[in-house]
Amino acid sequence: MSYVKATKRTLEAIEGFPVERTGALLASAAEETLRAGAIVRSLRWLSEKRIRERTPENLARLIEEAVALGVPGDGEPRVHVHLDLDPHLPTLMIDKVRLQQVLVHLIRNSVEAMAEQAGGQLTLSTRLDDEGFAEVCVSDTGVGLPTTVAERLFHPFVTTKEKRVGIGLAICKAIVESHGGTIWAIDVQPQGTGFVFRLPIVEEGEAVA
Ligand SMILES: Nc1ncnc2c1ncn2[C@@H]1O[C@H](COP(=O)(O)OP(=O)(O)O)[C@@H](O)[C@H]1O
Ligand SMILES: [Mg+2]
Repeated sequence: MSYVKATKRTLEAIEGFPVERTGALLASAAEETLRAGAIVRSLRWLSEKRIRERTPENLARLIEEAVALGVPGDGEPRVHVHLDLDPHLPTLMIDKVRLQQVLVHLIRNSVEAMAEQAGGQLTLSTRLDDEGFAEVCVSDTGVGLPTTVAERLFHPFVTTKEKRVGIGLAICKAIVESHGGTIWAIDVQPQGTGFVFRLPIVEEGEAVA
């Protein structure tokens, strides 16, 4: 990135150099450099140890924080956020930072899927399912899953977005699974997508698989 910028400055300093012709090329080079950096960071991240430490966390609080981080406050068009959080969920033993990444990532995907939409709705819900797992659903009223990626959603480098790396859902899956959980996508009617993940309830002090 620094070399590209230095090249641009050097060319600009040459009198009479048609810098507008190279400007767009250099801008693309700079953008691709950033993208390459993002790919390297996410790969490094995927190969890292998944969980560092587990602490007892309140899922509802974690979700509220993730909404604050993931939904742009001044976004246009505005996204309506609806929370439907089970007040009886027990405290979970989780790696807070990692779980936060999962939530923020799913929220950002939803926001991106509703980018062209006025009055889109993002819903986050939690419940204790029949088998005693904590279940979290992040759903939107966005464009829905493109059929081209439906089969390989959680594979790394699968994306339909020009400026994205396509590694977010792969990271989400890795984090959820390292907590002993599972994650899957659902269709939302009449329009939109949801991602559901469930985590086993591990009490404080209990051995973790
Ligand atoms: N909420 C969603 N609605 C519609 N499509 C989605 C949603 N979340 C993910 N996708 C699709 O799955 C692809 C992969 O998602 P992800 O792994 O987060 O990569 P990225 O966001 O970098 O493209 C996206 O490019 C998009 O096509
Ligand atoms: Mg993404």
